[in-house]
Amino acid sequence: MLRDEQKLIEYFADAPDDISLSDVNLDHLPSHISVIMDGNGRWATRQGKERGEGHIAGISSLRETITACVRLGVDVLSAYAFSTENWKRPQHEVDLLMHLFATTLLKELPLFHQENVRLVFLGDIEALPEKTRDVFEEGLAETAGNTGMVLALAVNYGARAELARAARTLAARVASGDINIEDIDEGAVAASLYTADLPDPELLIRTSGELRLSNYLLWQLAYSEFYVTDTLWPDFDRWELLRGIKAFQGRDRRFGGVKA
Ligand code: IPE
Ligand code: IPE
Ligand code: MG
Repeated sequence: MLRDEQKLIEYFADAPDDISLSDVNLDHLPSHISVIMDGNGRWATRQGKERGEGHIAGISSLRETITACVRLGVDVLSAYAFSTENWKRPQHEVDLLMHLFATTLLKELPLFHQENVRLVFLGDIEALPEKTRDVFEEGLAETAGNTGMVLALAVNYGARAELARAARTLAARVASGDINIEDIDEGAVAASLYTADLPDPELLIRTSGELRLSNYLLWQLAYSEFYVTDTLWPDFDRWELLRGIKAFQGRDRRFGGVKA
């Protein structure tokens, strides 16, 4: 993706001691970066605040990550915002998250336009509360014509539910005579996922030190490089993103083969 070199340099000025823009190869950036935004609750608790304060603080981290990825010229940024298991949380926390999704998205639409960002959702957004769903649909329609970075927000997303849904889709197509059983190959499965139009993530970042996937993109992460940082999501910033990209660029990606 095209990037504005001047804006990029400005955005990454005032670097900390350990990392700067010159530490990453701008010609070999991951085209799709995915983040599991974790640790909001712990961030709040450590400061003696309600967990919700952590979710509110986490919004700025996402905003900064979006801008940083746009400046770098990343093609796709995806972010895990709410899992199919997160409904188990106390009702007031679920309600707050649904409210924050709706209000934040509405507020950030001008930013998306300014940065030419196209919004897509991964997950069953039909099942969200009406207000949240309406705003999401508005966001989809409003940004559909944008041609820059794709921002894929995983909301009410679970990889197992996604795979079961893909199986149903393919079974229905066989039953209707649209395709044959033999047509169900890896491409057909990939095309039946929420991520059908997106490349697989090359880099997965998880904050807050947790070493698990929590039902995120099980299919799509098959060959992604993982970067886990102890930084809690509300403390995540452009520099931590660069550290993740630097780690990614130091990896030897073999995809099952051997090095030439
Ligand atoms: C991630 O932070 C945000 C969501 C899952 C919505 P958490 O709320 O999971 O924060 P911790 O893991 O409890 O610290
Ligand atoms: C994963 O985080 C989901 C999101 C970040 C949206 P969780 O905090 O829900 O994951 P677990 O429960 O620690 O596995
Ligand atoms: Mg968590």
